[in-house]
Amino acid sequence: MEEYKMDLDIVTLARIQFAMTTIFHYFFVPFSIGTGFIVAIMETMYVIKKDDLYLKMTKFWANIFLLSFAVGVVTGLIQEFQFGMNWSDYSRFVGDIFGAPLAVEALLAFFLESTFIGLWLFTWDKVSPKLHVTFIWLVCFGTLMSAFWILVANSFMQHPVGYTINNGRAEMTDFVALFTSPQVFYEFTHVIAGAIIMGGIAIAGMAAIQLLRTKNLSDVSRTIYQKSLRIGFVVALVGSLSALGTGDLQMKALVHDQPMKFAATEGLYEDSGDPAAWTLIAWMNTHEQKRVFGIEVPYMLSILSYNKPSGYVKGMNTINAELVEEHGEGDYYPPVNTLFWSFRIMAGIAMLTLLVSSLGLFFTRKKNPILYEKRWMLWVASLMTITPFLANTAGWLVTELGRYPWTVYGLFKIEDSISPNVSATSLLISNITYFTLFLVLGGVMVYFVNRQLHKGPEAQEEQEKLDQAMPKDPFDGGAY
Ligand code: HEM
Repeated sequence: MEEYKMDLDIVTLARIQFAMTTIFHYFFVPFSIGTGFIVAIMETMYVIKKDDLYLKMTKFWANIFLLSFAVGVVTGLIQEFQFGMNWSDYSRFVGDIFGAPLAVEALLAFFLESTFIGLWLFTWDKVSPKLHVTFIWLVCFGTLMSAFWILVANSFMQHPVGYTINNGRAEMTDFVALFTSPQVFYEFTHVIAGAIIMGGIAIAGMAAIQLLRTKNLSDVSRTIYQKSLRIGFVVALVGSLSALGTGDLQMKALVHDQPMKFAATEGLYEDSGDPAAWTLIAWMNTHEQKRVFGIEVPYMLSILSYNKPSGYVKGMNTINAELVEEHGEGDYYPPVNTLFWSFRIMAGIAMLTLLVSSLGLFFTRKKNPILYEKRWMLWVASLMTITPFLANTAGWLVTELGRYPWTVYGLFKIEDSISPNVSATSLLISNITYFTLFLVLGGVMVYFVNRQLHKGPEAQEEQEKLDQAMPKDPFDGGAY
């Protein structure tokens, strides 16, 4: 565990803050993208089938989607704030590059999302169902655009293109190259696949929790949960297959674009043999820079890297020597054990969500839907809820820790990125403040989601009836 020992200097404290704000923010991003997408599917089913059950279902899950959207916006603001506070030299370096994509994100994508979310929220019963469902699809489109432009910025950090270095700053020379870079395509499709898994597994999981814990469910509520479970599994299955496909593309790109990150996720210090074996599990001694133990699957790494049973992969020692030659003396080894295990957690969860969603669909088929009767199966579905949070976090750990020691790969180092006037004390205080805030926000989110689940899908309609029975103007009806 040597790699976790670190001094609490300014750079480390700022990195902890970046990790904390990003991880917490990213609990809500894929959750809101995924659940928003499912809510749109549910409302579309209502429009097509004209069955009120789907309307109730849409409104029920919409409340949870809206909660996560709101918390996502708040945590996103905190993340922006920590960038400004701690990483001003980095902001100066990439400012010219990030200005355009982040402006498009804020002005077009986020405005589109926010405008249509407002329209969608306040026009139930005021516009036709077809127009209403268009609003939620436009929200989804805005969310996708938002993710796209943010990932354009992140992709530049992983694989810089379309720039020149002038006076120690990166300046954009080709805007089109920036957003058509293959890295953007890999990251965007993979991130969306991860979000789709999150939506599907989370809705199936929460529906399973409700079927498990709520006794005396009405027929309507039971049917809503059962149908939600199935919709969740279909979406999770599509997401899992997409994550596998897009993840595979990312791996193959890393072999060339970020070989050190790739070697670290495989725990390879020395060059592999040819054909290269893939390591299932291992532990690395980072001080002695060698593997303590490992279980290997022959040929597999060649196949995963090059789609053929031959070809070797460079180890970290060779790559480090190359990087020293190219960029000067320094430590270019990322945290190997964290990368190795994060990658396996992410990929392992992809297999698990694929298995559970396929079996889930099989055991909820019309002919013999035994999943609803078997409590242990409902337990499995409930417990799965946590897995996409773990996989998404693990994925970002691979991406962000793997570019060590760079903030912008090959161009700008983490140690040069820090704000010159930020102090260890201010960082410590802000770290503690954010941590407390996140605990509170997380608690509030869990509380409200739980409350919404407890109320059940029929509460909304009852509330609406009560609202309609109330006088429109609170000062009506003899208040004066
Ligand atoms: C076998 C399946 C998978 C493979 C092979 C795979 C592969 C990868 C690779 C190689 C990266 C690093 C890319 C880079 O640094 O440029 C990555 C990142 C990531 N992965 Fe996966 N992944 C898989 C499954 C999943 C699943 C199931 C999720 C979420 C539910 C997920 C979420 C992410 C996220 C959020 C990132 C960071 C963003 C990005 O760089 O795309 N991955 N994945």
